[in-house]
Amino acid sequence: MALFDFLKKQPKLPTLDLSVLRTDMHSHFIPGIDDGAQTMEDSLAMLKGMQELGYKKVVTTPHIMTDGYRNTPEIILGGLEKVRQAAKEAGIDIEIEAAAEYYLDYEFEKKLKDGNVLTFGTKYLLWEIPFINPPDNINDIVFEMASRGYRPILAHVERYGFWQNNFEKYQELSDRGILLQMNINSITGHYSAQTRKAAQWLIDKDLISFVGSDCHRMEHIELMKIALKDKHFQKLLNSTKLLNKTL
Ligand SMILES: [Fe+2]
Repeated sequence: MALFDFLKKQPKLPTLDLSVLRTDMHSHFIPGIDDGAQTMEDSLAMLKGMQELGYKKVVTTPHIMTDGYRNTPEIILGGLEKVRQAAKEAGIDIEIEAAAEYYLDYEFEKKLKDGNVLTFGTKYLLWEIPFINPPDNINDIVFEMASRGYRPILAHVERYGFWQNNFEKYQELSDRGILLQMNINSITGHYSAQTRKAAQWLIDKDLISFVGSDCHRMEHIELMKIALKDKHFQKLLNSTKLLNKTL
């Protein structure tokens, strides 16, 4: 009998979830305006998945890309209201905000100068660059953002192939005041083996300020459950540099 009592008193293992992050700051949950959720049903399924992973809040970030997704703050904020309403009706208890993932193209600088950009938290601005070639105006655009009081977050920094043979570049970007964001699923090898290596390096050097789901579809939710078991990812979750929970 004593043995059974002992077993009953064994502490339960902690639930492995993402509640320590509190907030996700990179996703595509507004239906029909980019390559993420296509229907409200898609959005609700993913939001429910995020809630079950432990998130209390999401800042969803549709693409704004002149030659791809010509979204505007009005389109995104209009979509946000509809998603909030649908989530409420579906009983999904998660706070939802919206900003954008800005592609560094010829119109981005104009939007910056006009102050016509969506940010989150304390003027955090999420932006991405082309995957094929590194743009030569990164320094200028970062200067432009900083001088207007924006805090630039470079999206999924580990995914750009042109830096994957030159990891030291990440330190240089960070030293220049660029906050680095990593996709959770990069640690699973979902994008490529090289992307996974870059993610591991960034975690070991403690260079990541934000971690994001970059969730486009349910597959990404399922993969995050696998990422949770990864030892590098567990190390990242313990980093005091991570700012997700401040959002
Ligand atoms: Fe994205």
